[in-house]
Amino acid sequence: MKQLITLFVNNKEYEIAVAPNETLAQVLREDLNLLGTKEGCGIGDCGACTVILDGRPVNSCLVLAVQANGSQVSTIEGVAEGQTLHPLQQAFVDHGAIQCGFCTPGMVLSAKSLLDKNPDPSEYEIREAISGNLCRCTGYQKIVEAVKAASENMKK
Ligand code: FES
Ligand code: FES
Repeated sequence: MKQLITLFVNNKEYEIAVAPNETLAQVLREDLNLLGTKEGCGIGDCGACTVILDGRPVNSCLVLAVQANGSQVSTIEGVAEGQTLHPLQQAFVDHGAIQCGFCTPGMVLSAKSLLDKNPDPSEYEIREAISGNLCRCTGYQKIVEAVKAASENMKK
């Protein structure tokens, strides 16, 4: 039987009827049509489905929607301010840190979660923060450089 839950996604309130086995990733993509959250493995291995849940990055394929009832969720759709890219998004573009783009929403949200808590991370801290996000294309170095550049730009 479906249960009514409330989610605050990108500062907008939604009431949604969800099945007990429905994941947060499914609700975001299928009920709210927020397709920026990618589903790669569905078992917590790839990080493509990363969103920020009550301030922490999570694999939304591993969170049941009912567990997120009442929570604040940030997805990639809420990161830019209108037409202005977030400094992280701009740095990914400027540093060529995107190839196919499948990992990018999750990467950006893991990095944003890091910079929200630690505005001046070391390379080690950046690599640790994105260690749950797999990228088949870039070799990671440009992503690390982009996160570092964004942290510097955000200090200006
Ligand atoms: S789809 Fe969630 S970790 Fe891969
Ligand atoms: S850019 Fe293709 S998986 Fe990362």
